[in-house]
Amino acid sequence: MSAKEGTVLVTGGTGYIGSFTTLELLVAGYEVIVIDNLYNSSEESLNRIERICGKRPIFYKADVTDQEALDKIFKDHPDIDSVIHFAALKSVGESTEIPVEYYRVNVGGTISLLRSMEANGVKNIVFSSSATVYGDATRYPNMIPIPETCPIGPTNPYGRTKMMIEMVIEDHVESHPGWNAALLRYFNPAGAHPSGIMGEDPQGVPYNLLPLLGQVAVGRREKLKVFGTDYASHDGTAIRDYIHVVDLAKGHIAALNKLRKDKPGCRAWNLGTGKGSTVFEMIGAFSKAVGRDLPYEVVPRRKGDVLDLTAVPTRANEELGWKAEMTLEQACEDLWKWVSNNPQGYRQMPPQMLLDA
Ligand code: NAD
Ligand code: WQD
Repeated sequence: MSAKEGTVLVTGGTGYIGSFTTLELLVAGYEVIVIDNLYNSSEESLNRIERICGKRPIFYKADVTDQEALDKIFKDHPDIDSVIHFAALKSVGESTEIPVEYYRVNVGGTISLLRSMEANGVKNIVFSSSATVYGDATRYPNMIPIPETCPIGPTNPYGRTKMMIEMVIEDHVESHPGWNAALLRYFNPAGAHPSGIMGEDPQGVPYNLLPLLGQVAVGRREKLKVFGTDYASHDGTAIRDYIHVVDLAKGHIAALNKLRKDKPGCRAWNLGTGKGSTVFEMIGAFSKAVGRDLPYEVVPRRKGDVLDLTAVPTRANEELGWKAEMTLEQACEDLWKWVSNNPQGYRQMPPQMLLDA
């Protein structure tokens, strides 16, 4: 692929999913320009990308809500033809405390981005949506597992920012010929790079199950709190569709290629495995990777949680030619390799043995 045709701007490209997608883009032969304000990430992720694939994206420390900064980057890089937009605030709990900030960054940032893209003739966008837009799909008959045709109805401000952004993008694509958009609804990203030198490095207190289990395993947390054992699942705990982050990253390349080749307009795709696992099954799988039982205690349900978020991934399988291939066991092993070798995340170098491998 020639660099002239294949330059992609990745917002939030030093973050968890963004860094893995940047790596896959570089491996696939794209030129990549990353912008990130480093609010929840570290520039060190770019060094790790370079160690793994021998290439490095161009990086700008910039904020997606800064219209002028965005315009300058597009003007300085007239070869950009597509954007993958990850930059966002993503903590469900925090979004209930400071909702306006979530709307400002997530919705406002996307609007700045779309305006800059429009002003500079860039018409392909891949957007990080979330399975959280579906809310509680058990409200509808026959919608578990969840197809893209399930009516959306998020249950928290974070989810509502994603729903609004989907609507803004859809309206823009409808009204502007030549535009194409992939709304990628991720289920639960999991795992790390098999090398052990790239993974999730949240800057604050983690909210998600697997990073929390990782902290229990390395002794940074005494035990895991299991949020509810009174769900209508076989063991009483809630069901999620955990997808290896490397598979998820590859889904973006498939979606980008679809936009560039087939120009489908605006379309939503679920990125999941189609297989659900309960919290207890996840504790079991991660304990196996660690090699010992991990302590937990049962506490009441977390507000806003739903019974089951499992994808029907058929649309992405058929239309994007993409399928999640890695197992849950692999995700757990890779996560353990990452957290056990990098207890401080990107704030310390991993063992030389991993860097040399
Ligand atoms: P992350 O926090 O690791 O990555 C987001 C990145 O965006 C970070 O590097 C952060 O510094 C950057 N950022 C935040 N605000 C910014 C701003 N105003 N300007 C520029 N950069 C900014 O999160 P992630 O898990 O990699 O998530 C990436 C995207 O995927 C987000 O849009 C998130 O909502 C979405 N998503 C995540 C999950 C998940 O469970 N991780 C699930 C579904 C959807
Ligand atoms: C998974 C399961 C919890 C922590 C969230 C967002 C979603 C997406 C992914 C961004 C649930 C249980 C968790 C703990 C527990 N992010 N759990 N003890 O809630 O499915 O999805 O992250 O878009 O939008 O809503 O993920 O990892 O927080 O929880 O028992 O300490 O683990 O109840 O059943 P969730 P999660």
